[in-house]
Amino acid sequence: MNTIFEKVDHYIGALLGQEDPSLVQATQLMERHRLPNISVSPNQGKFLQVLALACNATKILELGTLGAYSTIWLAKVLPEHGKVISVEFDAFHADIARENVTNAGLDHKIDIRRGAAMEVMPVLEKEGQGPFDMIFIDADKPPYLEYFQWAIRLSHPGTIIVADNVIRNGEVLDENSKDEKVNGVQRLNKWLSTCKEVTATILQTVGVKEHDGMVIAVVNK
Ligand code: SAH
Ligand code: DHB
Ligand code: MG
Repeated sequence: MNTIFEKVDHYIGALLGQEDPSLVQATQLMERHRLPNISVSPNQGKFLQVLALACNATKILELGTLGAYSTIWLAKVLPEHGKVISVEFDAFHADIARENVTNAGLDHKIDIRRGAAMEVMPVLEKEGQGPFDMIFIDADKPPYLEYFQWAIRLSHPGTIIVADNVIRNGEVLDENSKDEKVNGVQRLNKWLSTCKEVTATILQTVGVKEHDGMVIAVVNK
């Protein structure tokens, strides 16, 4: 299927979202090892870069690495002393991610932590790794609210927090949904409507990936 949304996504990508060879190779390695096709799209990777630059990021936290596709987009715009810490639960995914990061020449900027996000975040706090300038939440969906609350804890005023996949083909509209991923993002979206600590919106996304959306939030001063 080549919808108008896909065609326009390719149009934007050809102008402004070109992948460099290390990103193309990262996707190829993920395909070869049959990792799920759920990385951000090229234009979404570029969008994450724009946000990282907008908040002058040097320290970024990512929950959910998969093959490090989004991680590489982010790390590329960090200064040489900058760092992305990316948390991945699945050891095989983390191995593929490490290979992609090394191939991209970004080992010095990307720290992949193996473990469950809810367990790793307290460790990062104890280590004094925060506060992070940008936090990208993209791991399992049921605990998205708890991830977001931890993200605030690891933030400073002005930190940008992004949460991927919060619209899920519009399934968030179904208040009777029994899908635990849908229920997880519904819980976050509703909580944000009364949260005083951030200023947030949801950007609806269409294109080469399914109809979805990202929370874009900034931590209040
Ligand atoms: N950010 C990546 C895609 C991540 S896909 C990109 O856009 O390129 C989601 C990843 O989260 C998967 O690799 C999955 O194994 C991982 N994951 C699932 N549950 C997790 C958890 N509890 N803690 C950390 N990672 C988890
Ligand atoms: C799913 C997860 C993602 O991070 C994504 O971008 C798309 C789909 C999922 O688990 O369904
Ligand atoms: Mg995602």
